[in-house]
Amino acid sequence: MKPFDINNYGNLSELAYPPTDEPLRQIYFISRLQGILAKKREKLGRNIRFSVVTFGCQMNAHDSEKLEGILLEAGFEPSDEENADVIIYNTCTVRENANQKLYGHLGQLKARKKSNPEMLIGLCGCMMQQEDILDYIKEKFRFVDIVFGTFNVFMLAELLCRRYEENKQVIEVLREGTRSYENDLPENRKYSFKSGVNIMYGCNNFCTYCIVPYVRGRERSRTPEDILDDIKRLVKDGVTEIMLLGQNVNSYGKKYMDESSIVAENPDYDFPTLLTDVCKIDGIRRVRFMTSHPKDLSDKLIEVIRDNPKVCRHMHLPVQAGSTRVLQAMNRHYTRERYLEIIDKLRKEVPDISITTDIMVGFPGETEEDFLETVDLVEKVGYDQVFTFIYSIRSGTPAADMEQVPEDIVKDRFDRLLKVVSEKARERVGRFKGTVNEVLVEDIDSHDDTMVTGRMNNNTIVHFKGCAEMIGSYVNVKLTEEKGFYYIGELAGE
Ligand code: 5AD
Ligand code: SF4
Repeated sequence: MKPFDINNYGNLSELAYPPTDEPLRQIYFISRLQGILAKKREKLGRNIRFSVVTFGCQMNAHDSEKLEGILLEAGFEPSDEENADVIIYNTCTVRENANQKLYGHLGQLKARKKSNPEMLIGLCGCMMQQEDILDYIKEKFRFVDIVFGTFNVFMLAELLCRRYEENKQVIEVLREGTRSYENDLPENRKYSFKSGVNIMYGCNNFCTYCIVPYVRGRERSRTPEDILDDIKRLVKDGVTEIMLLGQNVNSYGKKYMDESSIVAENPDYDFPTLLTDVCKIDGIRRVRFMTSHPKDLSDKLIEVIRDNPKVCRHMHLPVQAGSTRVLQAMNRHYTRERYLEIIDKLRKEVPDISITTDIMVGFPGETEEDFLETVDLVEKVGYDQVFTFIYSIRSGTPAADMEQVPEDIVKDRFDRLLKVVSEKARERVGRFKGTVNEVLVEDIDSHDDTMVTGRMNNNTIVHFKGCAEMIGSYVNVKLTEEKGFYYIGELAGE
């Protein structure tokens, strides 16, 4: 029985007080919300519609699936952002421009709120964990209805209830180590055939540019039992592809957590062991994971990938910079040489693996020589795809106090890097042209509804003629045309 199955509990909303234990407490609030919404539907003669708008990484995307799961369970109806009564922005704060974007969105919503009395605006995610941003929002955007953070996604129903019943703004951003609940939430999965599964939360690495450890807290792993049970349940639901999620999956298992408390340490059950066990589950055809930190990538993991065809031939291995001096200033705990060694080993053991990375330009103190080392590393490695970022100051991180590189120099370096990156990626991806590959069909092509979009095992995207019935199935596709970082193909039969 999944603990969050509301149907197993009868009508908890009749209780005189909310239960104190999770998830019972949240089930109680979901039942209450169901009552509130039923009255609203009767009065308005229509459903109350919601939209969750997600910014940022896979972690946030997965949190949003939980938010949507709670809202659906409570009786809201999904809709697009434009027609929604309840809009929740799940924010990201990894780079500064995300803040400005959010403020822009909020400005527009103020007018809409005036014309729709049902309209509620919710804010959550990483930005809300930052004190200064929270203060700014409190002062400038008083019309926002509920605000919560990364540690209390599970409380959405409770906060909405309070907003409806007390008719005032509800701000409840929990800090790390307080009441927290991260397991067993209802989820509205975007795809029926693939799913992310959190294996750990938080990060202990404190890269000097990065805000994540401050807003997502210390590293904590879910127990293998919880993870494997979740995956078995997903398989029963029709899922065949799993993405194991964590900020640094390679250090999985150091500290286990049971709900909010650390319950055990078991260094013997590490990430390669977990990966092996996930692959043993019948019905799983593909296993992916994200994100790997080079400093913790072990030979054992490479061997597990090599020996296990279910593990996808794709490694996202953020390098950030190609100069050892800059890597040291970033607190990355590896050198350029060590990184190249890992790449060599990966390619030797798993020759068909596709490698992608994140690179940052303009980290404080980066010289032209440092930058040329990054370009040189991109050329040496030959990535399948590179996600490039301009360094963005995050206040409170050590790099914010270091000497910054002038903007025009950074911009020029960024453009030069992009050129090299796209030339190299085209070369790399092009190597599959003419071959037949297994593709998992994910969606109708957003530009042409006679086409479908799918992914090869190594994460390369392929578009080809197809129809909605094919979604979720594995088909063989011949790659006929190479388009930079994706392919056009045609069905190749059995
Ligand atoms: N500025 C720019 N990029 C950043 N990233 C993390 N923090 C910053 C920052 N302050 C990038 C890193 C990371 C990716 C998810 O975002 O490259 O791997
Ligand atoms: Fe940020 Fe570094 Fe942790 Fe990744 S490993 S989340 S870049 S601190």
